[in-house]
Parts: sequence; C-alpha cells; structure tokens
Amino acid sequence: MYRFVITATTSMAVLFFIFFLTVAEAVDPAESWQKHYNLWFIISIIIWLTVTVPLVYFVFRYKKKREDEDGAYIEGSTFLEITWTGIPIIITIVLGVQSWALFNQYRKVPQDAYEVRVEGFQYGYEMIYSEGIKTLNELRVPVGPVKLSMISKDVIHNFAIPKYKVREDMIPGRMTYQWFLAKEPGEHMVYCAELCGPGHSQMLAKVIVMEKNDFNSWVESYKIESSALSPEERGKNLVKNLGCTSCHSLDGEEIAGASFKGYYGGASILEDGSTVTVDDAYIEESIKNPKAKVVKGYDPFMQPYSLPDEDIKAITAYLKTLK
Ligand code: CUA
Repeated sequence: MYRFVITATTSMAVLFFIFFLTVAEAVDPAESWQKHYNLWFIISIIIWLTVTVPLVYFVFRYKKKREDEDGAYIEGSTFLEITWTGIPIIITIVLGVQSWALFNQYRKVPQDAYEVRVEGFQYGYEMIYSEGIKTLNELRVPVGPVKLSMISKDVIHNFAIPKYKVREDMIPGRMTYQWFLAKEPGEHMVYCAELCGPGHSQMLAKVIVMEKNDFNSWVESYKIESSALSPEERGKNLVKNLGCTSCHSLDGEEIAGASFKGYYGGASILEDGSTVTVDDAYIEESIKNPKAKVVKGYDPFMQPYSLPDEDIKAITAYLKTLK
C-alpha cells in the first residue's frame, strides 16, 4: 500500500508542477493553447510507450514454447489496480482543469482590445470598423489585442484564424465574439469553418496586422478614397472582392456564367424560352435569388448573396460601364 501512496503523490506533484508551469504566465491564448497541446501530446506519448513497450516485450518473453505448456495462474493485484486507475484519473483531472482555466482566460477580452464588427454572409465577410469604414474579406487591425464582434446575415458560419488558434461561430440573430493577440505585422488566412453551402470552401479572408501608425494612416486614406469613389468604382471593387469574376468574365469569354461584357441592357433567353432584359431589377433579383431566372445553357449553381441595396446599385452601375 505504501508504494501506491508514494507513486500517487509523486505523479500528482509532477503533474501539478507541469500544470502551473504551463498556465501561470500565459497571456497570449495562441501560446497557451500551443503549450496545452504540447502537454497533451507528451502525456499521450508517455501513455502509448508505457503500454506498447511492455506489450511487445511480453509477447515475445511469454510466448508458448511447448504444445502442452499452461500459462501461470495469477491472482489480481490491488496495488496495480489502484495505480492504473489512480494515475489516469489524476491526468484527466489536471488536463480538464487546465483546459477550463484556458477557456476562461480566452473568453475574457483585454480592456484595450481593438474592436471590429464582422458580418458573415454566403460567401464572405464584411468588416465594420468603429472609424466608420467597411472592408470586404479583409480584416485590417493594429498590433495588439483584437476583439471581433460577429454576426451572420444568413446561415451559420465560423470565423477561424489558424495563426491565432481561434475560431467562433457566426450565428444569425446572435452576437458572438472572440479575441486574439496580434503580436507583429503580417498577413494571415481566415477560413470559414462551418459547412455553409456550396461556396463554403471559397469563403476566405485575410487578417492584415499593421503597426499602429500605419493602421491609422490606412484608416485616414481609406476614408478619403472611399468617399471619393464613384458608384461605378465601388461596384468594380465589389465585383472583384466578392469573387464574381471566377464565373463571370469581363472580356466576353464564357466561363461558368454569362460574361459581364455587354451584359447590361442586353436580352437573355431563359430556360423556359421566355426573354428577359438585363436591367436593374433583373440584376438585383439575380444577386438575391439567382435561381429565379436562369439563363438558358447555364447551370443554376450560383448562390444568393445578401448584399445591402447600395452595394447592389454600385454593382449595377459598374456593369453598365462594361460595354
Ligand atoms: Cu461560411 Cu462555410
């Protein structure tokens, strides 16, 4: 029995030491999660070796040597039973407590975090900054802690930034949030991590971390630029940023969808043989509900986009210029 007590106490002491070592100075969630992962990984390897090495050894050591050989009769061992129940329990508790501690830390947003509102839609993200500007699929932030307040305009999406080891659902009608620590300038990918429709894999964005001064001057120049932009120019940016051109060419080439060149004002023949004129109303309908009037010869796989009216107007204005 005394051996059990010694084993249990020692392993508990070691595990708690590791626990405090990894949790104590954690300030950056990404770093804490990495350390936590490493700890799980090391413990898993130790458990695997503890089981596999003796297993392989015993297989050879106690192999049946003669036909009439009988195995030894072994009674249970209380010491072993308690040890191999006790140690896994302690490991599980320690890892569980640490996960919980990290989770709570991760839910607490630092006071000085820079906040951006992110609205998900099929298929993209609109970033709305407190400075009164908006970007599409591009999240610009200054170095430091960043808080994202998130919501979805249609179905459930998930805003995942592997670099910062964070992800959180974007839910229609409910604000969710997450934060991360942007330590240095750089560009990182954002993925939608919740199957949200056929365009799910294309729902990508970038986080662009900038030095504070660079960020402030970007905000100023962006404000000036966007207020100076004509609807046509805004529409051009939207068509580019929303990825429309992967199906609709601008030069008359036929890809998966009708080319935008000379599109506006023309007439299209629909599946049922009727004709529509490509005007403001038809463009608006085709963006919001693409399957309503599919042009003959094209597959109806374009997904609806829930864009604000001003964006649809800008896109229409741009299409008018593509003669
Ligand atoms: Cu949005 Cu997947």
